[in-house]
Amino acid sequence: CSSSNLGGKLLPAVTFELLKESTESKARLGKLHTPHGTVDTPVFMPVGTQATVKAMSPRELEEIGARIILSNTYHLYLRPGHTLIQEAGGLHKFMAWSGPILTDSGGFQVFSLGDLRKITEEGVEFRSHIDGSKHLFTPEKVMEIEMALGPDIAMVFDECVSYPTTYEYAKEAMERTTRWAERCLKAHHKEDQALFAIVQGSSFRELREKSARDLVSLDFPGYAVGGLSVGEPKPLMYEVLDYTVPLLPLHKPRYLMGVGSPDCVIEGVLRGIDMFDCVLPTRIARNGTVFTKLGKLVIRNAKYKNDFTPLDHHCDCYTCRTFTRAYIRHLFNVNEILGLRLTTIHNLHFLLELMRNIRKAIAADSLSEFREEFYRYYEPEQF
Ligand code: GUN
Ligand code: ZN
Repeated sequence: CSSSNLGGKLLPAVTFELLKESTESKARLGKLHTPHGTVDTPVFMPVGTQATVKAMSPRELEEIGARIILSNTYHLYLRPGHTLIQEAGGLHKFMAWSGPILTDSGGFQVFSLGDLRKITEEGVEFRSHIDGSKHLFTPEKVMEIEMALGPDIAMVFDECVSYPTTYEYAKEAMERTTRWAERCLKAHHKEDQALFAIVQGSSFRELREKSARDLVSLDFPGYAVGGLSVGEPKPLMYEVLDYTVPLLPLHKPRYLMGVGSPDCVIEGVLRGIDMFDCVLPTRIARNGTVFTKLGKLVIRNAKYKNDFTPLDHHCDCYTCRTFTRAYIRHLFNVNEILGLRLTTIHNLHFLLELMRNIRKAIAADSLSEFREEFYRYYEPEQF
């Protein structure tokens, strides 16, 4: 179903070209071909929940090297509504971003609603966090929404379980996720859009293995690992990746959902992940926290009052080439919009530059050295 008719030949909407497998780790280099362009992997996808990457214009995103962005079914369904976006000619036209887009299914957002939702085999009934109105997300409904939004890649409607959880509940949610993935596949019929499945199973090896096996047999064009970075310690997340990623098809893209701290991205790539997304870089930027080569820096801190050096001495982003810590601290103190625009540019640049350097290191068979060098300076945070 995920194909386009080119000259009578059926081509999948999204294809993954595996360019290189590292000899020293599970890291890979690839190209993700989509109807809106090709993306080098491993890749980080900035998050544009409300059809905008907060504080950034599409032109600025492109300038700092963003090549694919993520948006959210749940939010766009509630406001402005998927039919309005369809009427606008789809999400790309609506938000004037001409590169590839991936939409998450709402499987994460509706489960975060807590008391506001009820899960059945049919789907999830929830109340809008905006006006309390009642809605029902079923796999079929979510496919209708994602097909109307028109991203290059749509995600299946899944159930993401928080950590910690019981084996019994994780099993129930994982099996339901697989049944829903099958329903999504049946309901999805858009030739220029690929549908990716999501592996669940919390931190239980047996459940992750069953989830991966069953989803792989359904032959999706790409696979995500979900249900991670939901409160578990980082070493446990790495352990889950160690045994889950090798179960996924070699020649299909692998996407680690909701992960985007610099250290986790490096660890994910080493374990065979090709795609990442996270609100972290843009969210912390807006409260004045930035990544640097040494770890995080909180710009409101009094010690930067008369620090006339850039946010990160090693960074060549527009913000660091042009402005000082003292100035950006001042902008935050007086609540000026430019402050959070400048920190957002820097944080996204930092992560996109990290991805470029990771790809170079894989090409040179030196990712392990790159990792050592990175940790020599970088103080990992519990972000
Ligand atoms: N974002 C982060 N984790 C998840 C997940 O498990 N499922 C979905 N749909 N989105 C996510
Ligand atoms: Zn910078």
